[in-house]
Amino acid sequence: MDYTAESKYVMTEQSPPKANQRLAEYLRVNHAGERAAQTIYKGQLAVLKGHPQAAEIQHMMEQEQEHLDTFDTLLNDYKVRPSLLDPLWGAAGFMLGAATAALGPKAAMACTIAVEEVIGTHYDRQVQDLNNRHEEPELVKTLARFRDEELEHRDIAVEHDGRQAPAYGLMKAIIQTGCKTAIKIAEKI
Ligand SMILES: [Fe+2]
Ligand SMILES: [Fe+2]
Repeated sequence: MDYTAESKYVMTEQSPPKANQRLAEYLRVNHAGERAAQTIYKGQLAVLKGHPQAAEIQHMMEQEQEHLDTFDTLLNDYKVRPSLLDPLWGAAGFMLGAATAALGPKAAMACTIAVEEVIGTHYDRQVQDLNNRHEEPELVKTLARFRDEELEHRDIAVEHDGRQAPAYGLMKAIIQTGCKTAIKIAEKI
């Protein structure tokens, strides 16, 4: 028996082609991001229930739930494991949402501007990359729709005076740094 040939086969099986690994990272990080987004709005709602902004936050939370459910299904379809830190992303999102909302409705909206800007750009990069590679046209349509919805969330938060929050620039910078770091981690782990 040719053991060399067999072990080569096993090695090939264990190392998926590059495109698959990239796609796995895309789906994993998107699922983690939507988990965090959904819980950010949940955390904001827990604090801002009854405020005039609650209806908009509820609307955004429902869209994040649909995004999350979509990536749940896609992880199953593509046989990709979720981030091992999934519960952490949920807890971090809730804390971020609740903490910013505790500073007031404008600070909650500032958080939304910061987060959605990063997520919108993140989805746009994936859309462009997959388009350039002529891969996954159906997924690209979904990602493009989600990108547009995230940017709508950003616009809603601008309309609700997120940019007038106290220490807006500093808060935005801190939150965006946190988001970008989380994205890098969730792609891999
Ligand atoms: Fe989303
Ligand atoms: Fe969003």
